[in-house]
Amino acid sequence: MYEQISHSLLNEILNDIKPEIRNLRLHHFYTRLGANFYAIHSLFHLLYGDRDDFKQQMTHLVETLASRYAERDDELKQSDLDREKNHNWFLSQKWVGMALYCDRFSENLQGLNTKLPYLQELGINMLHIMPILDCPQDNSDGGYAVRNFRKVDTQYGTTDDVVKLASGLRKRDALLVLDIVVNHTSDEHEWAQRAKRGEKKYQDYYYVFDDRELPDIYEETMPEVFPTTAPGNFTWDEEMGKWVMTVFNNYQWDLNYHNPAVLIEMIDIILFWANKGADILRMDAVAFLWKKIGSVCQNEREAHLLLQLMKDCCQVTAPGVLFIAEAIVSPSEISKYFGEDAINAKECEIAYNATLMALLWDAVATRNAALLTQGLKNLPVKLERATWLNYVRCHDDIGLGFDDNDIRLAGYDPTSHRHFVIDYFTGKFPDSPARGLPFGANPKTGDARISGSLASLVGLESALENGDEAAIDAAIKTITLLHSVILSFGGIPLLYYGDAIGTLNSLEYLAEPTKVADNRWMNRSHFDWRKAELRQQPGTVEYQIFSALKKMIALRKETTAFADFDNRQFLTVDNPNLLVYSRTDPQNNRNRVLVISNFNVEPQSLAASILTTYGYFQLGVMKNLCANTQIAIENGALIIPALTTFWLTD
Ligand code: GLC
Ligand code: GLC
Repeated sequence: MYEQISHSLLNEILNDIKPEIRNLRLHHFYTRLGANFYAIHSLFHLLYGDRDDFKQQMTHLVETLASRYAERDDELKQSDLDREKNHNWFLSQKWVGMALYCDRFSENLQGLNTKLPYLQELGINMLHIMPILDCPQDNSDGGYAVRNFRKVDTQYGTTDDVVKLASGLRKRDALLVLDIVVNHTSDEHEWAQRAKRGEKKYQDYYYVFDDRELPDIYEETMPEVFPTTAPGNFTWDEEMGKWVMTVFNNYQWDLNYHNPAVLIEMIDIILFWANKGADILRMDAVAFLWKKIGSVCQNEREAHLLLQLMKDCCQVTAPGVLFIAEAIVSPSEISKYFGEDAINAKECEIAYNATLMALLWDAVATRNAALLTQGLKNLPVKLERATWLNYVRCHDDIGLGFDDNDIRLAGYDPTSHRHFVIDYFTGKFPDSPARGLPFGANPKTGDARISGSLASLVGLESALENGDEAAIDAAIKTITLLHSVILSFGGIPLLYYGDAIGTLNSLEYLAEPTKVADNRWMNRSHFDWRKAELRQQPGTVEYQIFSALKKMIALRKETTAFADFDNRQFLTVDNPNLLVYSRTDPQNNRNRVLVISNFNVEPQSLAASILTTYGYFQLGVMKNLCANTQIAIENGALIIPALTTFWLTD
């Protein structure tokens, strides 16, 4: 948009810009800056307009964007242009992701190159490498307590290895996802170190207080993230002689975005990694970006303004790079991270679908789809140019982030239902085959989350121990069923590295003093390559899971109706054990897939009359893509076997 004030400011900034920057080849940069400047200026003004150094800060921001643009290599600039032209490229059904730890999956970044054929065999073409930046050895929070944002931890390799990996992936037509830990730094980061030594400039990078007065006021409304291992939101720093805000662990200092210097530093870091070849950046813990007295300090409006600014700035320098919002918050809040009141995503193009994830686990525990269907129907409508990251498990705990009202509508009492689900997965519920542990149990609120690997949570571990063939079969079917939903739902499926071979809980962390208190490590095991070999041996558990997932991934990629163009419709059916939706190719309405998933351990039936009302089974049979078989209506009903999904086409 053209607007006089911002346009004349832009002219002034461009006149003031350092001559060494002005002399660079910045043709596309200027076009994009012109297009985004009104938004950047308005947002920056909303956040920092009352500061005396406002214009200086703006100039510094523009110089940062220009300098990083000048450094961006030609191949990446070409990819930016291609993606601008084909701007819906990431909505295609062709993408299938996996998240893994480079050291736990292979040895290091170089070693990872030799493991790419495994990923390719499964059909993975989007690789999220868990954080690899320099962290203190002991207090790392699995890579999320960064000491140096521009240095790869020496145990994983070098920045150059990242560049090589990115370019190798590009040749395979695969994408690289890297983390940007935007909310906090390690207390050993240079900024924190200088703050400790008393430098006011760097104390302003954090939320630092002389006494408990303000921290106590904040605490009145701030929830706790790690109540058992890191209670409270502030930590006393002996060296500095002050309190500092630490929402996560006490060694993770929250960055103070009330200070524009922090935002500009972080934008610079975002662009640094964009320039190393990352296609997508996973913005960690974005719900926490803005802190305000009297609020929960999550999902604040300003957190959204900051993300919009980061996006607009990235659009100017590296427009081909997408953002993933890691905001594990309530269903109504998550979709706001796409940006509101727009068609194109204004913040993050992709968001973790934590709602679907939690609902899937509810369906496993209840063995029905009542709450799953109810919750999904209320999933907020997302923007057109935005998509979900659909996942079953990740490196973190499972929070039961669904809506109380949906729980009631599904026929349960919210408090007792949540307790049931926690008890089910943590082995307290009689007859439950699950082997999880409670995480972050907070006696003050009664909340708890769940840790454990996918296979152990669905009962594979206990079934193997008991040598119970029927239970082993049910666990394998459940793993396949859960993946069939994330592969067909709409969005990018993100697998977790051990899940395709049925990796059980790992107990290694119990022997490591710095990890023992954090049972999320149960699900961060060293990938067992000998176990992975068994995927080639028919009859093994590994073979059954791996081959089922591999087949569904290949089918997904061929099925254009699975691309994400808001082309999903839920069918209202009379059997609560079933989740039923259709996916239609917007280019060709006749090209559609009916997805029916049975979460019950018994076969279930669905009245043919319902299906024919929606126009399915007109000729009495449909093809099930998953098994390549014809499925017929018999005695007026469709029978769906236990723990099975049908992908039906005409
Ligand atoms: C295709 C490519 C992807 C590229 C995009 C942009 O989907 O596979 O790598 O960035 O198109 O056009
Ligand atoms: C994110 C990460 C989690 C980490 C937290 C703090 O939620 O996924 O592992 O503990 O942020 O950085």
